[in-house]
Amino acid sequence: MLAVAVVLIAILLPSAGAEPLPRYDIIRANSPIVIDGKLDDAAWQQAPPVGEFHFNWWKEGEREPTIAKIMWDNDNLYVGYFCHDKHISAAVTQRHGPVSKDDCVEIFISPNTSKPKNYYTFEINAIGTMLNRCRTDWWSGPPTWEPEGVAYRTSLHGLAGKQESPQDEHWSVELAIPFRNFVRDAPHIPPQFGDEWRLNLMRTGGVTNAQDSTWSPIPPGIHSFHTPEAFGTVRFVNSPVVALAQAPERRRGRGRPASTNPLGRGSEVIEAGRRLYNSSCTVCHGLEGTVGDRGPALAATRRYLRTSDDDLFSAIKNGISGTLMPPAGLPDNDIWKIVAYIRSLRATASDEFVPGNAEHGAEVFRSKADCSQCHMIDGQGGLLGPDLSNIGAERSARDLRTALTTPRPVIPRGYQPVRLTTASGERIDGVVKNEDNFSLQVMDRSYRIHLINRTEVKTIEYPKESLMPSHYGQSLSAGDLQDLLAFLSRRVRQ
Ligand code: HEC
Ligand code: HEC
Repeated sequence: MLAVAVVLIAILLPSAGAEPLPRYDIIRANSPIVIDGKLDDAAWQQAPPVGEFHFNWWKEGEREPTIAKIMWDNDNLYVGYFCHDKHISAAVTQRHGPVSKDDCVEIFISPNTSKPKNYYTFEINAIGTMLNRCRTDWWSGPPTWEPEGVAYRTSLHGLAGKQESPQDEHWSVELAIPFRNFVRDAPHIPPQFGDEWRLNLMRTGGVTNAQDSTWSPIPPGIHSFHTPEAFGTVRFVNSPVVALAQAPERRRGRGRPASTNPLGRGSEVIEAGRRLYNSSCTVCHGLEGTVGDRGPALAATRRYLRTSDDDLFSAIKNGISGTLMPPAGLPDNDIWKIVAYIRSLRATASDEFVPGNAEHGAEVFRSKADCSQCHMIDGQGGLLGPDLSNIGAERSARDLRTALTTPRPVIPRGYQPVRLTTASGERIDGVVKNEDNFSLQVMDRSYRIHLINRTEVKTIEYPKESLMPSHYGQSLSAGDLQDLLAFLSRRVRQ
């Protein structure tokens, strides 16, 4: 019988009908995560959810969504679960008890992609009882396993029991698993930048509307969470984005620190740096500062860890420890040239001198062009478009001109226009702020937010053009447009 099952799995996994296994990049937490069952730490805000959970064996009942996130640092793997649940119940309080009968989350981790069958399990019910197993080819201990140093809390932690109540809406779990628990299987502890592991995240149990769901889908015909062949793949990556509010030089106001480059920032220095960069650094980073196979883009409109000349110089001269970024092994003068080049790639509008009369530009913004109808600056204006109070520190002058004069090739997230009618006959015209398989959040033209269930939608249309007009090259005089750009280039949050 066992042999038959194994053959079945082998046949079923690659076959049609099985959905592709999901992938997820685990970013590093660059601020502390406090394990208190609340996912309110600043770090969590930077991590994207792993993606939708699959109801592999669904027959009937509501498919309540789960939002799960994973992060890491040198010591721990962090997992956060936010479980929508209108019927929360849990009774098991004994360590290693049968928690999966209760409302429960599970995490199965296989730290070595060449041995996915070696996996470790963490099952936690809503009141914070945990069950662990070590399912590996080397384990000869009892059926249960004692991981070291795991810290975890649920939002209902420590209750003697939890019965369903009409107030039930959601519960959450936060846990930190020390990497040292995986030292027998993981290729590196802590993982190295780029390392891949396999894992699955699940939910199960409860009394009313008990549903099983998993992040990585389980192929048809198999009815078990214990299917390591179907685990998704995760990759340990750096946290490339530093939240705007955390970057100290931004808090001080002006876009960037002054240049300390002994070679200056003349165009010849920049050109020499460009050639050196393109010949020495593109094994990992992309040509002309774009993203490469093994290194991040050095030129992009995002927020960097290193913004001063000195920090860039030191990263290139000494490498960045704990990452793939090696010391350059170039003479200091060459490094300074590369620094000048990287700085030139990153220049935003506020670093440049954008000519024009900014005061008149403010007038154009408020009256003639009526940009404030959709955009806010310093707390005044509309909400359909992004807040432009800091736009001079986020975009180059060229980006700003392009935004005003050419149609968007891709509409950014949060600004997709939508027109829909609901089953009850209501018509809504606005932008999609958020959506998933079950619902949409739409902001209409009077900035009201509508939360709409997909089942209530009768007709829906997604216009291909952004609400951002692209005609200002024609509708404004060249002088007005230049003044408007001068005004925008100086919008840097103080
Ligand atoms: C072996 C691959 C590799 C090579 C070669 C390499 N880099 Fe990197 N570099 C990386 C990785 C990976 C990172 C991200 C490090 C981290 O996680 O902080 C990085 C980060 C950087 C950063 C920091 C980005 C920031 O603002 O935080 C700079 C600057 C940089 N590299 C410049 C260079 C230059 C210049 C060269 C050539 C002299 C070079 N790198 C060669 C892999 C590489
Ligand atoms: C009808 C509403 C509307 C009006 C009027 C409007 N915008 Fe926009 N704008 C948007 C929306 C929505 C976006 C975001 C979607 C996009 O980028 O396509 C946007 C994006 C932008 C961006 C890009 C922001 C970024 O982060 O890259 C800039 C810059 C901008 N608008 C400036 C202006 C200026 C200046 C005016 C007046 C001359 C103006 N907008 C008028 C709706 C509007």
